[in-house]
Amino acid sequence: MEQQLNQLKAEMLQKIEEATNLKALNEVRVAYLGKKGPITDLLKGMGKLSAEERPKMGALVNTVREQVTAELETKAAILEEQAIQAQLAQESIDVTLPGAAMKSGNRHPLTRVIEEIEDLFISMGYEIAEGPEVEKDYYNFEALNLPKDHPARDMQDTFYISEEILLRTQTSPVQARTMEEKQGAAVRIICPGKVFRRDSDDATHSHQFMQIEGLVVGENICMSDLKGTLDVLTKKMFGADREIRLRPSFFPFTEPSVEVDVSCFKCGGSGCNVCKQTGWIEILGSGMVHPNVLAMAGYDPKKVSGFAFGIGVERIAMLKYGVDDIRHFYTNDVRFLSQFERAEG
Ligand code: DAH
Repeated sequence: MEQQLNQLKAEMLQKIEEATNLKALNEVRVAYLGKKGPITDLLKGMGKLSAEERPKMGALVNTVREQVTAELETKAAILEEQAIQAQLAQESIDVTLPGAAMKSGNRHPLTRVIEEIEDLFISMGYEIAEGPEVEKDYYNFEALNLPKDHPARDMQDTFYISEEILLRTQTSPVQARTMEEKQGAAVRIICPGKVFRRDSDDATHSHQFMQIEGLVVGENICMSDLKGTLDVLTKKMFGADREIRLRPSFFPFTEPSVEVDVSCFKCGGSGCNVCKQTGWIEILGSGMVHPNVLAMAGYDPKKVSGFAFGIGVERIAMLKYGVDDIRHFYTNDVRFLSQFERAEG
C-alpha cells in the first residue's frame, strides 16, 4: 500500500509539473484529490488494515495529500502570474508608435486681412460697425448722393429683392446708417462686410466679395488726416517702406475724391509685372465726405467734415499673399486655405 501511495505521489507531481494552465491544473486536483479519486479510495480501503498499521498509513496518506496540495498551490500561483503577464503583454501600449496627427484648422485668408485691419483701427480708437446685407435703396444709393436716375448707379447694378430693397453693392450705406444713429456726434468707424454686384465671375471679379468701409466725422477733419491714416494702413499691410499716392477721382459721396495707390511692394517702384510696370498699385477709393451726405444724415456740413474710404478685402489679400485668382477664396480647397497657416506667425 505504501508503495502504491508513493507511485501515486510521483504520478501526481508529474501531472502537476505538466499542467500548462490553470484549467489543466484544476483537472489534476479533481482527478487525484477529488471524492472519486485514488486518494479517497486509499482512505476508504484503510478499514482492511490492522489496528497498528492504520494510524501509520493514515499519517502517510495525509502527508502525501498535504505535499501534493502544497505543490498544487505553488504551481497555481506560477500559472496565475504567467496568465497575468501574458495578458499585460497583449494589452500593452507601444508608446513609441507614431501617433495619429490631429489636423488643426486655421483662419481664412480674408478673415486674416479683416482682423489685421480691425486690430489696427481699434488701436487708433475706431469702432467696428455693421450693417445689413439686404439693404434699402435709400441707404445704398440715395443717402450717398446717388439719386434714382444717377448714372453712377450703372457701375453697381445688383440683385433686387424689390424696387426699394436690394443686396448692397458696397459697405458705404453703413456710413449713412451710422451717422443717423449717432445723431450729430463724432464718428470713427470701420465696417467690414459682404457686398454684391451683377458682375461676371472671373479671375479678378466676383458677384459677391468683401469690403471694409472707413468713416471719420468731426470738427476740422481734413484731407491730411485722411492721408496720414491711409499711410499708416498701407505701411501696416504692405511694409514700413511703402509710400502712398493720391490721384483725383470721382465718387458721388465724396468731394474731393481720390484713388489711392501704394508703391509696388515687389519692385519697390521701378516697374514689374505686379504693378504693370507703373511702380504703383491701386488699393482703395476715398475722399472727403460730400456735404450732401452729411446733411442727409442730419449733420451740419458747415460745422463738421469727414473722410471716408472703401477697401476691397480680396484685392488686398491677393496682393499681400500673391494669390492670382479671386475664386480660390471661395472654393474651400484645403490645399489652398492651409497655406496661410504660417503667413503671419
Ligand atoms: N464704395 C466704393 C465702391 O464700392 C468705394 C469707396 C470709395 C468707398 C470712396 C468710400 C469712398 O467710402 O470714400 O466702389
